Amino acid sequence: MTPDTETLAPPTGEDRLQLLQRLLTDTRLDADAAGRPATPVPAELRRAPEGGPLTALPAPASPRSGLDEVLLERTAVRDYAGTSLAGADLSAILASADRMDAEGWPGERAAGVDLELYCAAWRVTGVDTGLYRYLPQKSALCRVSSLPDGPQAEELVMQREFATAAALLVITGNLAAALARHGSHGHRLLLTRAGAAGHAAWLTALRLDLVGTVFAGLLPHVLRERADADGYHRAALFAFAAGSPART
Ligand SMILES: Cc1cc2nc3c(=O)[nH]c(=O)nc-3n(C[C@H](O)[C@H](O)[C@H](O)COP(=O)(O)O)c2cc1C
Repeated sequence: MTPDTETLAPPTGEDRLQLLQRLLTDTRLDADAAGRPATPVPAELRRAPEGGPLTALPAPASPRSGLDEVLLERTAVRDYAGTSLAGADLSAILASADRMDAEGWPGERAAGVDLELYCAAWRVTGVDTGLYRYLPQKSALCRVSSLPDGPQAEELVMQREFATAAALLVITGNLAAALARHGSHGHRLLLTRAGAAGHAAWLTALRLDLVGTVFAGLLPHVLRERADADGYHRAALFAFAAGSPART
């Protein structure tokens, strides 16, 4: 082993845990730094709650692997098996994305600058195929529209491989409220929050022995037509495709 490769060798044991803790602390510091003086969000820019049929989710599944075991081996996977995702696994993925945002940016949420998590479910046990909004307080999915299945599902995504995932998490944010509160910094902040939520979902999936990737190549018209996402009051920011690994 040359001195160069020794320097690049991934940390192990305690060093690895310390690296993870430092990365998480950096994420929190970024959230704190965003706490500069902010304008209150006008009431008309806050979203009113909406109704729809609910599907209760099971309690989130517990991780099957340690964070330090999966983090450094994490890689984007875009080929998925045709098997279904357990409802409890989806529940854990959605809960972790929401928890990341709730713990990282409580002030933003209290001020009315919320992230909304959507789930395009194709193969999830106990959940009919469809597009849903995740309701973290109720641990439930609120149906917002149907979704085509099979080859027609490819029309919903920019890259057809994402239509073969068992489920997609789509993270949207209230850009109008973010800009009203922070000016243009609000957009950057929303993207940071969506990135943190998407990566929390990814790490949770890995710890459940699932695979996937984050991506931002969403088709704006799909969410506009199906989820009333006008790109301003509700703007699609980031996504995570989840599934079981395809057999090779
Ligand atoms: C902001 C952002 C946007 C991304 N958009 C896409 C995308 O549209 N399509 C895609 O296949 N991957 C997308 N990715 C995933 C990256 O391509 C992926 O993380 C990259 O291939 C690195 O993979 P690796 O960690 O396995 O090396 C995106 C990642 C980020 C952070």
